[in-house]
Amino acid sequence: MIAQSSVDEVMSRASIIDVVGQFVRLKKRGTNYIANCPFHNEKTPSFNVSPAKGIYKCFGCGKAGNVISFIQEHEKLTYPESIRWLADFYKITIKETETSPERQIQQQAGEALRILNEFAAKHFHETLMNTEEGRLIGISYFKQRGFRKEIIERFRLGYNPEQNDAFYQAAIIKGYSKELLEKAGLIKNRNGSYFDVYRGRVIFPIESMTGRILGFGARILKSNEKAPKYINTPENELYIKSKVLYGMFQSRQAIGKQDECFLVEGYTDVISLHQGGVENVVSSSGTSLTEDKLRLIGQLTRNLTILYDGDAAGIKAAIRGLDMALGQSFNVQLVLLPEGEDPDSFIQKSGAAKFHEYVKEHKQDVINFRLQVGLQDAGNDPVKRSKLVNEVAESISRINKAEDFSLQNFYIREAASKLKVDETGLVNLVNKYIRDRVEQENKPKRRDEAIPEPMEEPMGEEQFHKPSSDEVQEWQLLRILIEYGHLAYEGYESVAKMIEERVDPALLDTQLVGKLFNEYFDHYTHFGSTPEIHYFVNYPDPTIRQTLAQLLHHDTEISLNWKAKYGIESVSDSMMYVNDVDSSLSYFENKKVIVLLEELMQKLSTETDPLKQARMQMKYLELKKMEREILKRHQPVVFKSSKHK
Ligand code: CTP
Ligand code: MN
Repeated sequence: MIAQSSVDEVMSRASIIDVVGQFVRLKKRGTNYIANCPFHNEKTPSFNVSPAKGIYKCFGCGKAGNVISFIQEHEKLTYPESIRWLADFYKITIKETETSPERQIQQQAGEALRILNEFAAKHFHETLMNTEEGRLIGISYFKQRGFRKEIIERFRLGYNPEQNDAFYQAAIIKGYSKELLEKAGLIKNRNGSYFDVYRGRVIFPIESMTGRILGFGARILKSNEKAPKYINTPENELYIKSKVLYGMFQSRQAIGKQDECFLVEGYTDVISLHQGGVENVVSSSGTSLTEDKLRLIGQLTRNLTILYDGDAAGIKAAIRGLDMALGQSFNVQLVLLPEGEDPDSFIQKSGAAKFHEYVKEHKQDVINFRLQVGLQDAGNDPVKRSKLVNEVAESISRINKAEDFSLQNFYIREAASKLKVDETGLVNLVNKYIRDRVEQENKPKRRDEAIPEPMEEPMGEEQFHKPSSDEVQEWQLLRILIEYGHLAYEGYESVAKMIEERVDPALLDTQLVGKLFNEYFDHYTHFGSTPEIHYFVNYPDPTIRQTLAQLLHHDTEISLNWKAKYGIESVSDSMMYVNDVDSSLSYFENKKVIVLLEELMQKLSTETDPLKQARMQMKYLELKKMEREILKRHQPVVFKSSKHK
């Protein structure tokens, strides 16, 4: 186990800016940094990094955390693995402590499997290449399938002879335990004697993105037997079926470069496509797509093209995967191959040029595919047709609206015309599905994020210390930004600049506010001027538009804004906006102090070093003083809610 002192050292050295900056391009904004979120696909940045607080937060997808959680999430590592990653990054030598034998065994299980798998893959590959049976049976099988030597080597293909326990014997001599061999799915126990699971089979090692062998697929050579065609590794610490994609290691670079990933059904499809020069391809090995598999692909590209040898049975299962991909903001295309062909046979027969040509001509987007299949199936049956309308609307609703608004609109238009239904009706139906899902997702958490409610009572000091209505305050900050951002503020270029400097967006809890806040400043950075109020009033997403309209609809301020713009501003009006701005600001400055105080209290409660304790107490008093000053400077003012005036 990693010694606590090493964890502390890593934590004190690690800078969130350094680390996040390794993976995304950070732009400085005020005291913080922003970027396009690495965890979901987006075109305008919602991802905030606050160096002062050492945290990141995305207003688009909600992911947030510190430097360790970033590495965990981004590199798909465990907590200790992330500490090791960071130690490596900062060239810190980690001290290890003793662990209990049980824990050690548990921790080492995955590692032991990995070492065994590496040995097994090597053994099977050598058996294929260098033994008589391997050459006579294994190699000639691959030859007959059209696989050349380089491709057999690139995919580390192997063979295990028909003899009962050839591999078992070899592994035992090397000192691998029976338990481990069984767990890896390589041997089985029958009546006390052990035998190989892969007898007389060719073997496809399944590698992780980084080339670790996670497990195997082993194909039978004789077609008459009752035995299964493929035997795959059972679930264990290393082989987790829902997270494995065959070909990831060999294909990852091409997928990134081409910015597209082909998804096929089988091992042999991946291999033949590679051999034919199509290297951006993975297989989900006869199992369905999962969220995790999609996330793996999503690290490399958002363009997913599914090559499908369209028998009717698989279509339904496929469609579930497609909706999942739409939900993860993939641009999903489908290609149905000619009757009786799979990608393997197609490319072997026709070559890469014909393959690309075919794909180009037969690519269709998911919604169209669903429409085509569904309409064929429904015919003139009104019940089936109405069911189809609902299904298609549901699919369309999964397209991430904030990012792909125009795509969603495009599909709605397409679908409405093909289904012969009214477009507005379909829009409503799609929106209903979005609402349903948002409601479902938010049920256990906060319910009503979109529309801020007015606060009735002026806040006493007590309430001010424990902000209960952050959302209202956050929406008001946004309103102030939209309405007064372009106006003057003492000591700053504008109100907007002042807010950018002084309000830490990481403190914003309301996702939508965070997103719009970022959009505002992104616009500012790009165009050098604050966005016009129209930018928000005419916001493309109708639900957001409505919320903003309510937020901005209060006659005095809007007219004030106009007055300001057209130069007929009166003194008292100008006083009003400064007051408004200051009260809002004081709220967020105070909130920041409260957060710092809480963090300090947390640390104080576990600190044992009296010297450090004393230093923290000093800091505590300082923060308390700051808090009082903020309160003195600006009486906490309650924002009268605009919309009910
Ligand atoms: N599969 C499996 N177990 C089976 C059959 C299939 O795990 N009994 C998985 C394998 O990952 C296989 C994929 O489903 O690669 C597709 O099946 P199929 O098209 O039958 O296999 P191919 O790999 O195309 O094999 P071949 O071309 O040699 O028939
Ligand atoms: Mn095949």
